[in-house]
Amino acid sequence: MDKIVIEGGLPLHGEVPIAGAKNAALPILIATLVAPGEHRFTNVPDLVDVSSMLSLLGRIGCPSLGHKGDVRLDTSRVSFCEAPYDLVRKMRASVLALGPLLARCGEAHVSLPGGCAIGVRPIDQHLVGLEALGAEVELSGGYVHARAPRGLRGGRIVLDVPTVTGTENILMAAVTAKGESVIENAAREPEITDLVKFLRSLGAHIEGDGTSTLRIQGRTSLSPAAQPHRILPDRIEAGTYMVAGAITGGDVTVTRVDPRDLVPVIEKLRAAGCDVEVGTDRVRVRRTGGIRPVDVTTRPHPGFPTDMQAQLMALTTLAEGRSVITETIFENRFMHVPELTRLGADIAVEGNRAVVTGVEGLTGATVMATDLRASASLVLCGLAAQGRTEVLRLYHLDRGYEALVEKLQAIGARVERVPDDLRERMAAPAAHRMTESA
Ligand code: EPU
Repeated sequence: MDKIVIEGGLPLHGEVPIAGAKNAALPILIATLVAPGEHRFTNVPDLVDVSSMLSLLGRIGCPSLGHKGDVRLDTSRVSFCEAPYDLVRKMRASVLALGPLLARCGEAHVSLPGGCAIGVRPIDQHLVGLEALGAEVELSGGYVHARAPRGLRGGRIVLDVPTVTGTENILMAAVTAKGESVIENAAREPEITDLVKFLRSLGAHIEGDGTSTLRIQGRTSLSPAAQPHRILPDRIEAGTYMVAGAITGGDVTVTRVDPRDLVPVIEKLRAAGCDVEVGTDRVRVRRTGGIRPVDVTTRPHPGFPTDMQAQLMALTTLAEGRSVITETIFENRFMHVPELTRLGADIAVEGNRAVVTGVEGLTGATVMATDLRASASLVLCGLAAQGRTEVLRLYHLDRGYEALVEKLQAIGARVERVPDDLRERMAAPAAHRMTESA
């Protein structure tokens, strides 16, 4: 398996073009099931999770073609209404097949995703929502079996928590249900707004996106849009490169972004002493002075995103003082802490709070990624650390960061991706070779 090798300590400078958002592409690709026919997309990120979603659609009977962010997907026929365990186990977001399959076929059989490194992650709210639309739901053999033989009908759902994929699942089922549906305490993430925009382009009638109440008038038939849908920019990828500029004391501009979706990250970077300039589709982050400590509490959108918690923690490891980071979304999202400690960080975890006491400097080490955003925090600290850092278990990063190594190299990072078995060969001349490639 590959690993990333970083020779840290260099300030990064330059522009990073941001890809389409993983967490928008995943629900939008599977949402095509509700409108039989050929769909076209642009700005689809080249990620393992996206390939997994297209494989799932292929298994269902919907072939796709993709080239450089452009994807064509044909949902004219559905031959299989199941998301099997071998696919769901690779990608939890396969659970997003539940709502659209139910809407399209009147039944859906989706393997239960189970927990993951960041928490238990139940899907009870998805199921309560689908039941409110008239589905009969049964759990057996590790699968959710949902059936609506006489079709779905509108219903009112008050979510216990504003779950992102839960809101998406219920929304995708409701667009062709008979009558009106209302989802209260809905999630308000920008990726949901992008899904609503896509569903509207198919003819769906939805009001309230960006608020916590979604109102849907079901339509009997939806059809593919005439124009391709452009996936919105990935605010988490953008935030990660913004922190890369900040943590290395560099000057990094993320381009092709929507700065409105980056407000919570921009605020924290300013509070940490960075100079942040906001343009129409770009954000520039510079740091010349020290890093000020910042306290952060993760919240559903428009609060500070849990998907940026590990990266912001990376920055605070080098702050001049103590920061408190509180995680309120997932119960186990501090798995990066022991690895950051291996790089020299001083972090004490008490329940859902991490107290980070800034240190003068980090030093390179071999570290192991546990989940996607944890992996990003290790790369960020590796970029700021003196010496060589190796980040193992790259499959997490491949799930969510398109061309990570290439994008970092383009802004001056000494970073390479190498097969793990080249460890011995790389060991001695690594610094020299990586300087040449930077
Ligand atoms: N929850 C329930 N019951 C449910 C669903 C959720 O109790 O039925 C709880 C969860 O356990 C959690 C909270 O609600 O404590 C929020 O979870 P949510 O359902 O919103 O998370 P998700 O939809 O499974 C999406 C993103 C995650 C991101 C979270 C929170 C996708 C494909 N995934 O997950 O992205 O962290 O929302 O914003 O959209 C990532 O990209 O690295 C990632 C993990």
